Amino acid sequence: MSTSEQIIPHGHVLRYTLKERLTHWVAAVAYIYLLMTGLAFWSPWLFWVAVILGGAPVSRMLHPWAGLIFFAAVWNMYVMWAPQMKHTDVDKAWWKAVRYYSTNQDDKMPPAGRYNAGQKFLFWGFFWGSLLLLLSGVVMWSPQYFAWHSLIAMRIAVLVHASAALFTIGLFLIHIYMGVFAERGALSSVIHGDVSIAFAKRYHPGWYKEIVGQSSTPRK
Ligand code: HEM
Repeated sequence: MSTSEQIIPHGHVLRYTLKERLTHWVAAVAYIYLLMTGLAFWSPWLFWVAVILGGAPVSRMLHPWAGLIFFAAVWNMYVMWAPQMKHTDVDKAWWKAVRYYSTNQDDKMPPAGRYNAGQKFLFWGFFWGSLLLLLSGVVMWSPQYFAWHSLIAMRIAVLVHASAALFTIGLFLIHIYMGVFAERGALSSVIHGDVSIAFAKRYHPGWYKEIVGQSSTPRK
């Protein structure tokens, strides 16, 4: 899509295409199911979650399939977004100034592009975390194919799976906080596709400039 097509009437800018939004929500729904069933397998205190979701055998059967769906969606995100998630000099400066970001002084931040450095970190964290979850999950799913040293392979897989899951849970909590509570307008963008010009200028001035070909003003 050309940048001029991203400018839409009534002071709005297209941030996410339908394909991007569908991919995101497939990943989100699959992840939440994996999180709930995974936590139920992990702790006896949370076993009741598996019972609510149709029982332990059903949860155990569906968990790996949901994992494949999740990874397919993450892979699709990789194909769509990886080129835009490359680390740049602006990102380096963004991390240095992150204290201004966390205190809502956005006008003191270096101009983030379509994604800021924090979002890029989240993207790569989710990508590598999901890859580890997939590889370790496959080992646990079909132990008969990993007969050589299967006990060792299983133990390593369990450790990797749990560590990668905890890592992605940390990312997920930050993501929900940022997307739903901190950046007003972000949640609606991933549902409806568009953001206001004020949102684009405030959080992604570099991206806004790219789209309209003019410099943005800091937030008033
Ligand atoms: C209920 C669950 C989720 C909610 C409410 C949610 C919310 C959001 C929101 C509001 C945005 C737009 C942020 C912006 O453009 O400023 C977004 C983007 C994104 N989401 Fe999610 N998300 C959820 C689950 C997930 C999961 C499970 C993943 C893991 C793959 C994920 C990965 C991403 C990525 C990579 C982006 C683009 C970069 C970024 O904004 O961080 N999301 N999400």
